[in-house]
Amino acid sequence: MKKVLVATDKPFAKIALDQIRGIVEGAGYQLALLEKYTTPQQLLDAVVDANAMIVRSDLITQEVVAAAKELKIVVRAGAGYDNLDLAACSAANVVAMNTPGQNANAVAELAFGMMVMLVRNNYNGTSGTELRGKKIGIHAYGNVGYYVAKIAKGFGMEVFAFDPFVSKEKMMADGVTPVATVEELYKTCQFVSLHIPATETTKKSINHGLLSLMPKGAMLINTARKEVIHEEDLVKLMSERADFRYVSDIEPGNKQEFADKFAGRYFFTPKKMGAQTEEANINAGVAAARQIVAFFEKGDETFRVNK
Ligand code: 3PG
Repeated sequence: MKKVLVATDKPFAKIALDQIRGIVEGAGYQLALLEKYTTPQQLLDAVVDANAMIVRSDLITQEVVAAAKELKIVVRAGAGYDNLDLAACSAANVVAMNTPGQNANAVAELAFGMMVMLVRNNYNGTSGTELRGKKIGIHAYGNVGYYVAKIAKGFGMEVFAFDPFVSKEKMMADGVTPVATVEELYKTCQFVSLHIPATETTKKSINHGLLSLMPKGAMLINTARKEVIHEEDLVKLMSERADFRYVSDIEPGNKQEFADKFAGRYFFTPKKMGAQTEEANINAGVAAARQIVAFFEKGDETFRVNK
C-alpha cells in the first residue's frame, strides 16, 4: 500500500486535513502525519518509508531526499517552492510539484489587512489615511498579484504592475496599468506589493536604490519572501525617511532593529500567515492530494517544477 506523508511544521486546518485524508484513503493509500515537528531528525525518521509527501514551507533538503528511499513525489501545497532542493529531487528521480494559485486569495487578503492597519496608525486613535485614490504597484503579476489587483480596485486604488513574463494585454484586460521597468513601478506607486519568488536573481534585489524611488508616504508590503529584501538597505532607508513604512508576512532577520528604531512604521506577522486560512488549506492541500493520486494512477505530471 502506498504511503503518503503529510509533513507540516505549520499544520493545515483540521477541515483541510480531513479532506486530504479522504482523497488519500479513498485512493487506497495510507496517510501518515507529522505535524509541528521540532527537530530535523523527526522529519528524517518520518520520510523513510514514504512514497509521497505533502509539505508546506518545510525544508526538503538533499539529506531529507536521501533519507526518503521510497519517495517518488513531493508536492509543496502552495506556490513558492524555494524550500525544495530540486536538484536533489531530480537526482533521486523524485517528481517535485507545487499547487499554483490555490492559496493566492488568502495571501492577497492578508496584504490588505496589514496595509489598512498601518494606514490607520495601528488603530491608535489618531487620524490615518485611506487607500482610495492611492497608487499601488504590483511587483510580479502572478496568481497573488491578480487577487491583489482585484481587491485594490475594490478599494478604489489605481493599480499598476511590473512583470516581464506577463503580457500587457492580460494586465490591461484586468484593468491594471502595465509599466515597462521595475524602477518606474517604484517611482509611480506609494504602495508596492511584492510577489516575486526567492531565486538567486531576486535575493536581496529590493534594495536602497529601488526603495528610495518611492513617493512620500511610501509603504512596502511583503507577502513574498524575506530573502528578496536587502534588509540592511531597508533599515538604512527607513532611518533616512520617517515617512517610509514596511509590512511583512515574514519577520526580517534584524527585527529587533525595527523594534528599536521604527515604532509604528512596521508590522510583522509572528509566523507566516498569508496562506493560513481554512479555505487556502483546503484548496492547496486537496490539490496536492489529488496531484499525488493522479501521478500514481495516470502518470500525470502537471505542475511538475523539476522538469
Ligand atoms: C506559498 O508560497 O504558497 C506561501 O508562502 C504559503 O506558505 P505556507 O504554506 O508555508 O504558509
